[in-house]
Amino acid sequence: MKAGKDELLANLPVNSAGNLTWGGADTLALAKEFGTPLYVVDQNMVESRCKSFRTALKKRYPDGEVIYAGKALFCRAMCQIIAEQGLSLDVVSGGELYVAVKSGFNPQKIYFHGNNKSSHELEMALEYNVGTIIVDNWHELEMLNSLAGKTTKMQRVYLRIAPGIEAHTHVHIQTGQEDSKFGFTREDAPKAALAVVNSSNLLLAGIHCHIGSQIHNLDSYALATKTMIKIKEEIEQATGIHLSELDLGGGIGIQYLPDDPLVTPDELVEIIYQNLPDSKLKIRVEPGRYIIGQAGITLYTIGSSKEIPGIRTYVAVDGGMTDNPRVALYDAKYHAVLADKPLAQPTKRVSIAGKCCESGDMLIWDIDLPKIESGDILAIFSTGAYNYSMASNYNLLPRPAMVFVKDGEPRLVVRRETYQDLLTRDVK
Ligand SMILES: Cc1ncc(COP(=O)(O)O)c(C=O)c1O
Repeated sequence: MKAGKDELLANLPVNSAGNLTWGGADTLALAKEFGTPLYVVDQNMVESRCKSFRTALKKRYPDGEVIYAGKALFCRAMCQIIAEQGLSLDVVSGGELYVAVKSGFNPQKIYFHGNNKSSHELEMALEYNVGTIIVDNWHELEMLNSLAGKTTKMQRVYLRIAPGIEAHTHVHIQTGQEDSKFGFTREDAPKAALAVVNSSNLLLAGIHCHIGSQIHNLDSYALATKTMIKIKEEIEQATGIHLSELDLGGGIGIQYLPDDPLVTPDELVEIIYQNLPDSKLKIRVEPGRYIIGQAGITLYTIGSSKEIPGIRTYVAVDGGMTDNPRVALYDAKYHAVLADKPLAQPTKRVSIAGKCCESGDMLIWDIDLPKIESGDILAIFSTGAYNYSMASNYNLLPRPAMVFVKDGEPRLVVRRETYQDLLTRDVK
């Protein structure tokens, strides 16, 4: 892990006009053509992050699989990139499953998660021939076995286990601790495994854990690996079967601020390998944020400002918690620049506010920026993950459009919502 000042800031891409570029395209031109707020994704960065993860994992575990966590950002275009890059896919709902299958993703490479899958969602998964279902609890175990019994299938499953590890991250994105809504407790794991082995329609293929998100301290993964090996041994003893697949989840952290540390897939895989030097094991990892987070920025237009002398200057943009709820949810921190002068010296500390009717609708509480005027375009970095996918219509704000840029060529992949869209589900 190293401080990564240079990755996010020092190498800001700027063109001869002095404007910030993203994916090779001028961000002012993108804002003009597609409007704001606008999600912009650098497709080359997504592809190279998919490749670097696969390469890192395959070096140590030739039968390893990188599974993209679709919850970070999912749409047809993203699904196609993930397929082209040879990654598998983690879905967590009937909706994500539907979009994946309708986008042509190979269902055998889909891993279906969720702590409260409905019978309808499980039936969908069986009908679509989903490769692996990650069984989260006893209720699901019984329901899935019974539903699979109505088909001719032996459904491959993993068991999700809460290994009792507290990852070093925000409490709302810790998931591996004992007091968690996800997964079987460690104590129950061997019993649940035995129940699967004794079931008529389920095939136990492996075990899974996901300890949390935005993790920079790799010690958490070392501990997760060691603990999961013990749990695997306990299960093997209880059932008499050998488990060759171990899914260690996602969670590798990214840079939101220039001083945030950098963790690489190589470092993650090395930590796993140091604790598990068996290259025959089929290790699975499920990065979401790492693949898409830093590849995305959001462009906003600056509108009103309010200066409270000696207290704070609010500068409002045309989006907010509707397109990025992470600040309100997790106290997330972001970095931003003015798109037409990304390298200019800051002159003032300001707070970037959204336009929703909530005092907590803030995007950045404190940032030093050059002189700002109404109409300027603000680019907020590292918004690729959990922004588009968590967007809402609060205050009936239409959700932004999303553009993928490859080699300087922008492509509209999700159109902006219209006011008419806001009425499409009203039936009376
Ligand atoms: C089961 C599971 N796998 C993978 C991920 C992806 O995590 P991240 O985007 O932090 O890599 C999550 C995120 O919540 C998850 O719940």
